[in-house]
Amino acid sequence: MDRSRITIFDTTLRDGEQSPGCSMNPMEKLRMARQLDRLGVDVIEAGFPISSEGDFESVRMIAQEIRRPKIAGLARANAKDIERAWHALEHAARPRIHVFLATSDIHLKYKLRMTREQCIAQAFEQVRFARSLCPDVEFSPEDATRSDLEFLCAVCEAVVEAGATTLNLPDTVGFTVPSDIARMFTAVRNRINRDDIVLSCHCHNDLGLAVANSLAAVEAGARQIECTINGIGERAGNASLEEVTMAIKVRADVFPVETAIHSEHLYPASAMLQEITGADVQANKAIVGRNAFAHEAGIHQDGMLKNPLTYEIMTPRSVGVPDSKLVLGKHSGRSALNHRCEELGYRFTRRDLDNVYRRFVDVADQVKVVEDSHLLRIIREEIARGCM
Ligand code: KIV
Ligand code: ZN
Repeated sequence: MDRSRITIFDTTLRDGEQSPGCSMNPMEKLRMARQLDRLGVDVIEAGFPISSEGDFESVRMIAQEIRRPKIAGLARANAKDIERAWHALEHAARPRIHVFLATSDIHLKYKLRMTREQCIAQAFEQVRFARSLCPDVEFSPEDATRSDLEFLCAVCEAVVEAGATTLNLPDTVGFTVPSDIARMFTAVRNRINRDDIVLSCHCHNDLGLAVANSLAAVEAGARQIECTINGIGERAGNASLEEVTMAIKVRADVFPVETAIHSEHLYPASAMLQEITGADVQANKAIVGRNAFAHEAGIHQDGMLKNPLTYEIMTPRSVGVPDSKLVLGKHSGRSALNHRCEELGYRFTRRDLDNVYRRFVDVADQVKVVEDSHLLRIIREEIARGCM
């Protein structure tokens, strides 16, 4: 394994989609998967095939069309889930079955009603079954960060023996802090002591620490980061892909590792997800928010005019944000509108552009400036009406 390379495992289409109001139909997931491919993610977790017919179909379609990244499907640690996941994935160029089973006492006692011994036996048996179907099997001990460390290590040892190739240690409820997660990764890494097994982090953001915890895990040996575009996900979300990958890139002095992300596709990916789900990011969202590269204060503007490095640690273009915004209003024509749409990642036929333009003129009559959020709403509604 190349220790300097971080695998980016995108779970926008699975954990991200579990975010209230963010569900996507199979065609929407396929569009998003094409954008994730352009972005350069290594693994796309396309869904949870047993959860619904739609999710099964999404995973199957993505597995058939998207050939470069690995395609993963989630399964609980039981044969029915694993068979269903495999059925959805079997035509993928590079399939991965992702099996999970909770290991914390609180989950074992109240949710699964199972003893630790039963948990370890089931994890072993089901990982072995998944491995009999697929050469690439990831195992996640759900709620790892609230599990007894000794027991967690024992489960990890068992599933590695059963054939797991990636061990993902989730902070399911966003409870951990950087020093804690580093300790957990160091302990599991020392105990497993296998260079061919990839350790992975999966951090939720309940305390606003998902990105910080992911970076601490990397410093302690994790070589896969699970994350989502715009940080969408259960409750407060997952680690944001754009934040964690840009932190690694901008602070290469601290993190002697790299990802394969083409960062100039980050903003188009963020915009597409907002358009598909209708879940807009806040203005001050790092990397992709409307204000991420906006300067208001006079002193800052003066510094920016003299040298942008005074107040910007990365260029807007490096993340796909055009540095000078064309302000769109009621005097703008089709060509300015088309230019902005292309910057947002949309190429329209003449007829589609006419449809968007008609709606654009209506909005421009009501507001001073037509923002990207207006445009994305127009595009979303036109697509929903089946006009594009
Ligand atoms: O947060 C979590 O524990 C998960 C697992 C299924 C990996 O999403
Ligand atoms: Zn999760």
